[in-house]
Amino acid sequence: MKVLVTGGTGAVGQAVIPLLAGYGHEVTVVGRQKELSLSGGHYVTCDVTDYTTLCSVAKGHDAIVHLAARNSPVGLVGREVFRVNALGTFNVFEAAALLGIPRIVGASSINAVGYFFGDRGVKLEYLPIDEDHPVRATDAYSFSKQSMEAIGRYFWERDGITSVMLRLPGVIPHDDIVNDVERYADYDMRVVERLLAMPVQRRKKDLERLQTEYDAYRRRNRCDEHRGTGWWAEPDRECALSVDELRFMHHKVNFFTYVDELDSAQAILRGLTTTYSGSHALFINSHRNALGLPLAELAKLYAPDKPDLRPVLPGDDSIVSIGRARSLIGFEPEWVVTGRFSDSG
Ligand SMILES: NC(=O)c1ccc[n+]([C@@H]2O[C@H](COP(=O)([O-])OP(=O)(O)OC[C@H]3O[C@@H](n4cnc5c(N)ncnc54)[C@H](O)[C@@H]3O)[C@@H](O)[C@H]2O)c1
Repeated sequence: MKVLVTGGTGAVGQAVIPLLAGYGHEVTVVGRQKELSLSGGHYVTCDVTDYTTLCSVAKGHDAIVHLAARNSPVGLVGREVFRVNALGTFNVFEAAALLGIPRIVGASSINAVGYFFGDRGVKLEYLPIDEDHPVRATDAYSFSKQSMEAIGRYFWERDGITSVMLRLPGVIPHDDIVNDVERYADYDMRVVERLLAMPVQRRKKDLERLQTEYDAYRRRNRCDEHRGTGWWAEPDRECALSVDELRFMHHKVNFFTYVDELDSAQAILRGLTTTYSGSHALFINSHRNALGLPLAELAKLYAPDKPDLRPVLPGDDSIVSIGRARSLIGFEPEWVVTGRFSDSG
């Protein structure tokens, strides 16, 4: 199959190109750099917001993997994030419709839920969340990912293009997976252990305090307005959260989840080659949480009162379900860190 990969020179693309080439697919990579030599693919310069050039480059391909994007809102104004991510995606689908390319795999994000970069917490209605869970957006990146998913549905309705929009969490380089996930847990466990040791009502109050402070912090350092270059790591002067608490909140709003780059690549390959109809958002992540906590314990950090816990497969403890990706494209994570504390399989 001839596959066009937009943004294939980036972090996710670097794992995808060798996998596609290894399966015998002919790969064209497009990006904004003028020149680039690539192993496993042929490189062409093209900005995905330039529809005319994109059409000429995409001609003759059987499928498109669309990764080109602003991959974070940090340091950018919202309209620029939205322009590249939403217009770029519309152009890719419109070009596919014009050229008769029937299949697209796009990189949405776990941020389609709207929790991570936004400045208002998302109330989780049930756990694990799945693709039917309501989403909201208070930042342009999350909104652009929701828009990508809507664009996919539109082109299924209009032109019958089949697509999956993969809701990736933090994609971790394969060689760093164990260290990164364990470091994640080290940062957070001091706060997690303190919260889990509290009686329910005290935990509820403390979680509300953390969320209120965190939301205010995010509003002061709002991504869309290009403020707060240091917002990611450190509390600002007005922030009443400790460094540990702030890190815990950064990870909490990312659902303590992750994916190995090799698993993101195999999900993309499955999205290209499996038979399905329609356009689907799919969570793609490890079925284990990064803290290695049993699901019922992790749920207490999200819904301290009465978590609405849905059944999961034995061994699953992520609060983000990959059930739909399993059933639609046969995705099963292969590179999983089980964590130090887990007793759930
Ligand atoms: N890496 C992650 O942890 C992660 C998590 C969730 C979702 N995603 C999504 O996966 C996709 C790939 O992410 P990544 O981390 O590899 O990003 P990246 O920034 O490493 O790579 C993106 C590539 O797209 C290119 N690009 C940007 N704008 C372009 C344009 N207008 N035209 C052509 N090329 C353009 C960049 O030059 C870069 O090579 C993005 O859509 C991102 O939002 C990534």
